[in-house]
Amino acid sequence: MITSLFFALLLAGSTTAQQLSSTLTQVKDFGPNPRNVTMYIYVPKNLPPKPPIIVVPHWCHGTAQDVFKGRPYASLGDQYGFISIYPDSPNKVDQCWDVSSNASLTHNGGGDALGIVSMVRWTLKKYGGDKDRVFVTGTSSGAMMTQVLVGSYPDVFAAGSAWAGVPFGCFAGDGFDVWSDACATGKIIKTGPEWAALVKNAYPGYNGIRPKLQVLHGTADTVLYPQNFQEEIKQWTTVLGVSATPTETTKDTPLAGWTRYRYGSKFEAYEAEGVDHNIPNQADTVMDFFDLRCNATASKACFSRASC
Ligand SMILES: *[C@@H]1O[C@H](CO)[C@@H](O)[C@H](O)[C@H]1NC(C)=O
Ligand SMILES: *[C@@H]1O[C@H](CO)[C@@H](O)[C@H](O)[C@H]1NC(C)=O
Ligand SMILES: *[C@@H]1O[C@H](CO)[C@@H](O)[C@H](O)[C@H]1NC(C)=O
Repeated sequence: MITSLFFALLLAGSTTAQQLSSTLTQVKDFGPNPRNVTMYIYVPKNLPPKPPIIVVPHWCHGTAQDVFKGRPYASLGDQYGFISIYPDSPNKVDQCWDVSSNASLTHNGGGDALGIVSMVRWTLKKYGGDKDRVFVTGTSSGAMMTQVLVGSYPDVFAAGSAWAGVPFGCFAGDGFDVWSDACATGKIIKTGPEWAALVKNAYPGYNGIRPKLQVLHGTADTVLYPQNFQEEIKQWTTVLGVSATPTETTKDTPLAGWTRYRYGSKFEAYEAEGVDHNIPNQADTVMDFFDLRCNATASKACFSRASC
């Protein structure tokens, strides 16, 4: 274990005061889980048929409970009818995710990533979930895991939203809990094709739909340097086969000083001017991107993998 940096995120926008229809529950024996990642789930009392699923991996030094309380997805799930899954890291030293091992960086290869995907597969089966509307979002180590999951399991996720993370494979190393100072400080620079090769090698021969992705980064981030934002743009535009020149640039969205760059319809990147590692909670942006307020009975179809 090489962890030279310890940090915790501030809890913003806590929803503890809100009444929920159900409770956070631990699930055991949910399928292949070689690293013993712990599974917690929030299932709203009144679920619609074929509910969507959102996975919310925590940040370093955070827990499933911290994210459950610190992000509003449980109450939003009550309101809009979706299940949320909160995995908890088996690495009790720093609670960072395994975004380094070859196992995690390989489709069905093992590692923390497989444990989390097993939670999704179990939930889809148990609750008749919508396999075309499975989403993942996280901050910091959770944003790294978001990109690992979208890269290693493009067949499972419809979309990801990664706040203040690093590209897929940037922390790659020998072990399940490698901290890469070189990556964190923005010293791992690759071309788009080099970055994309890491993603493609995670699942050789996969030619199916790739999930869409949203990334956010503050320009004053001193934990995971903003260079990682540029590397993410190179990686995912290449994976998705679009130009790294934005097709649309929108200032002051969703907040003053934030700029949204869009690259076709499947990748967007938000640059938050002057924001440090603690990106303020913007669950609305995530809900919009995942189309989780969509009412399937209304005339417009909800976003799903099929529309990717
Ligand atoms: C996971 O748990 C099982 C059963 O308790 C144990 O045999 C195994 O060694 C554990 N794996 C790790 C990586 O801790
Ligand atoms: C990575 O893991 C996969 C699946 O377990 C294996 O086939 C491959 O040889 C591994 N690659 C390396 C470099 O260890
Ligand atoms: C969804 O739309 C239908 C038809 O417009 C409406 O009857 C229903 O109440 C809506 N459901 C929700 C959860 O908003």
